[in-house]
Amino acid sequence: MLAGPADFPGIAARAAQLRAAIDEANTRYYVLDAPTLSDAEYDRLLRELQDIEATYPELVMPDSPTQRVGATPLKAFSEVAHVIPMLSLNNAFSEAEVAAFDRRVREGLEQDDKVIEYAVEPKFDGLAVALHYQRGVFVQGATRGDGFSGEDVSANLRTIHAIPMRLAMRNPPEWLEVRGEVLMLRRDFVRLNEIALEKGEKIFVNPRNAAAGSLRQLDPKMTAQRRLSFFAYGVGRVQGFELPDTHAAVMDRLAEMRLPVSSERAVVSGVDGLMRYFEALGARREVLPFDIDGAVYKVNRLADQAALGFVSRAPRFAIAHKYPAQEEVTQVEGIDVQVGRTGALTPVARLKPVFVGGVTVTNATLHNEDEVRRKDVRVGDSVIVRRAGDVIPEVVGVVLERRPMLDLVTPEYPPFSMPVTCPECGAPVVRLDGEAAARCSNGLSCPAQRKQALIHFASRRAMDIEGLGDKLVDQLVDKGLLQTPADLYRLEQAQLAGLERMADRSAENLLQAIEASRGRELARFIFALGIRNVGEQTAKDLARHFGNLDALAAADESALQQVSDVGPVVAASMRAFFSEPHNQSVIKRLRLAGAWKDGEARANVAGELLGKTFVLTGTLPNLSRDAAKALIEAQGGKVAGSVSKKTDYVVAGAEPGSKFTKAQELGIRILDETTFLDLINGGGNK
Ligand code: IVH
Repeated sequence: MLAGPADFPGIAARAAQLRAAIDEANTRYYVLDAPTLSDAEYDRLLRELQDIEATYPELVMPDSPTQRVGATPLKAFSEVAHVIPMLSLNNAFSEAEVAAFDRRVREGLEQDDKVIEYAVEPKFDGLAVALHYQRGVFVQGATRGDGFSGEDVSANLRTIHAIPMRLAMRNPPEWLEVRGEVLMLRRDFVRLNEIALEKGEKIFVNPRNAAAGSLRQLDPKMTAQRRLSFFAYGVGRVQGFELPDTHAAVMDRLAEMRLPVSSERAVVSGVDGLMRYFEALGARREVLPFDIDGAVYKVNRLADQAALGFVSRAPRFAIAHKYPAQEEVTQVEGIDVQVGRTGALTPVARLKPVFVGGVTVTNATLHNEDEVRRKDVRVGDSVIVRRAGDVIPEVVGVVLERRPMLDLVTPEYPPFSMPVTCPECGAPVVRLDGEAAARCSNGLSCPAQRKQALIHFASRRAMDIEGLGDKLVDQLVDKGLLQTPADLYRLEQAQLAGLERMADRSAENLLQAIEASRGRELARFIFALGIRNVGEQTAKDLARHFGNLDALAAADESALQQVSDVGPVVAASMRAFFSEPHNQSVIKRLRLAGAWKDGEARANVAGELLGKTFVLTGTLPNLSRDAAKALIEAQGGKVAGSVSKKTDYVVAGAEPGSKFTKAQELGIRILDETTFLDLINGGGNK
């Protein structure tokens, strides 16, 4: 119950206390990434404050956390002039251009022979805003616009929890304009698109567009739902505030005021320092929680910045060093449909070659039918292609403005539809309820599926038959020499001799590799069969549990589900595979060829580490990761990728990662190479 007016001073004090506690919780959560309150506790505090403010409206403060949401929708944004223009940066794309920038800086400062100190930071891929704080309270915020004036998006900026409504400082300056970038974290972008997809709404092509679209909503309630973030990278107009001497120190001051500044910032010297930073940041680009498109270098001393000044619309004291673009626009020349090992049809966009993410891309996956429909990719479209790190290039979206004709019914320009028959064998295509993939219904009678199945059978982690690559499998299948994996073991030199690009020597090597694959361990053989949903780890678990193929093939679904991590889906695919007469006959022939050797069932394996889960982190002095893994598995243990309560041991080498800290937190036993080998050899105290 709220107290009556008699308690007013007490209530005002309580409101102030709540505001401070909520602000602190916000900063800890959004700025420092170290939350201290649970969501429920936070909600309780916020509700108490809302109740007080509803009863005593005179206690509502403009910087109250309750004011972050709830503003009424606008008809249009009003225009705000930037007292100090918001300029752009010149770009550098190579070390030579960075060196030229550094030379211009040294010449401009008449310090030709000195090494310049630079403040360096990521180039955030979002949109620039200016935040105005009057006597420490957020009063207005605007977009960059054309640099001279932008739009007043104050109500929307208030919804961004990373932006403090009041600066954390004792004697706030009369005026402080903070400049920085509004962006959307990758995880929030993914979540936003997932929700949009569920609701059948339009999805955003990348976090930057999502951030821009969200910040320019006329209804702040919409922005509030979009979870945006903010990083400060400079100041604009300041009054009553003495700036420190360097940009780096300015950033530190902003951080003290609880403004979010990137922890990726640093101070370096000369071109060497810049290049080292560029490479180190580039190596981390994929794991950062937000998109960046380069690094920004700023002469650190503010007096030097002032001396250098500006040319046209960019500063002479700063430059953006860009990474190769991860997204480019190109044209779709065709949409091919590829048939995979399990018959899944994958639409692939054939593209006008484009240089993106450091390579020339000519194809990009469109994943499946729904994905093409959702993105509405059509032949002739201009599309955004993305290639980040080592991932397969993908079509992010269509640039609709560039679609030559927007008439949706024009026959030359139709929407994509999945073929109703398999492009490889002509059999009907089926799509089962609840499955994303349409599949060729012809199983291993479809040459495309047969080829993929054979390539998988021979692959390194399966039967490991060196030399049996895609091209050779194509020829062998097309010539009718190979129908099933069992045929491999009957191939003869004379048959191979007639093939393209097949010298006697390579034919011999291939036959030897096939020969050497006889008697492979059961786990590899099970994996090699290419049963749907049965990956390498499941194959190992099944082999260990059943010990021999007959027991596995005879197991019913409930027996299969006794194996750890085998659920109804895997069990059903296993049953489907082994009850298929064609598969039974291939397995029979493979048995005659001695393709695999059966082992002993789990109960009989004298594995010391049976059922124990290990996680490997860091570099061990002598053992490679694969070697350590093999030792663990040979004794019935398992290697997992991440540390959880279920982990029994963490084996840590030099420079261990976050897994090490996690293990310490959870109190999991950590082994070094020596104690690990003791354990493996049965000498350790387990
Ligand atoms: S400083 C006078 N620092 O890049 C220098 N800008 O091309 C003003 N940007 O509109 C910019 N990260 O949106 C600066 N760490 C960073 C930045 C950054 C991203 C953006 C900003 C600006 C554009 C300039």
